[in-house]
Amino acid sequence: MPRPCVVVVGSSNTDMIIRCRSLPSPGQTVLGGALERAAGGKGANQAVAARRAGADVHLIARVGGDEFGRQARRDLRRSGVHVGRVRVTHGVPSGVALIVVDGAGENLIAVAPGANSRLTPKDIEACASLFCSARVALFQLETPLPTVARGITLARRSGCLVILNPAPARPLPASLLRQIDVLTPNELEAAALTGFHIHTLQGVRRAAERLLAMGVRSALVTLGSRGVALVQPGRFARIPAFAVRPVDTVGAGDAFNGALACSLAEGRPVEEAARFACAAAALATTRRGAQPSMPRRREIARLLARKSGTRTLKS
Ligand code: ATP
Ligand code: RIB
Repeated sequence: MPRPCVVVVGSSNTDMIIRCRSLPSPGQTVLGGALERAAGGKGANQAVAARRAGADVHLIARVGGDEFGRQARRDLRRSGVHVGRVRVTHGVPSGVALIVVDGAGENLIAVAPGANSRLTPKDIEACASLFCSARVALFQLETPLPTVARGITLARRSGCLVILNPAPARPLPASLLRQIDVLTPNELEAAALTGFHIHTLQGVRRAAERLLAMGVRSALVTLGSRGVALVQPGRFARIPAFAVRPVDTVGAGDAFNGALACSLAEGRPVEEAARFACAAAALATTRRGAQPSMPRRREIARLLARKSGTRTLKS
């Protein structure tokens, strides 16, 4: 069977990572281990995740004309992602993320977007033909909103299924939400988009139903070690996470989105695709770094063979 095609529009960063026993509080300095450098950026991570999960993947992105940008393109190419539309912006630094990871695998991240902020609607228009051959188009929010919005419009016009991972959180217009087939916020992003406080699973459900009312067709709210809540009109289910020993959750959301895009592009129903994505994301938490931690198809299949059911909750 030929690999289904996925187009990812998004960021590419170089991650600078320090591991510490605990995350610093505001105003606090903590000592950590040696500085690590790894490929990152939500767009690039999701592209690699989708590729390793089994899709044919094109990434539309911008890197700077520096060593970080050159390395990022090399890493992507080595992972099998098509980089013909990863353009170089000379005179601008590549995106960089400063990441601190604690002993439990939790993290905090600050991003200097650099060349990611130069990805324009015109860049997307120049690649419009790519969407015609793709089944799924996948977006995040680490590039300018007008660029994301233009990409979503062109992808829909070409008949792609559109997934938006609304990370990092920012307010989104209803006109954009109405074009989303599958929205994949984590709990904080769902709260930010709806203005709801989310403390319980019922709170997740209320927020997700609000997102449906705003025009999204399906919402998959990721719940970390509790898995993911699937909300569609008249339906609410929780797909539990796979039991693993996490060492670093950086990129778990990206593994989820990339694998989800691949599985949906293969024509799987949303619930089955979400379970596949949970398996990929669980595996990513057992390894260090973002892009390097993305699992391969056979590993996902092995974990999926272990038992994990879906819990359908009563209305
Ligand atoms: P991150 O920002 O750390 O990449 P996120 O906040 O976008 O992640 P999460 O909800 O934390 O997203 O995690 C995404 C998915 O990863 C979850 O739905 C779950 O399937 C999987 N996952 C995360 N943490 C764990 C864990 N401790 N054990 C198993 N699976 C996990
Ligand atoms: O989702 C993880 C990613 O967020 C990191 O790779 C970092 O670059 C930031 O974009």
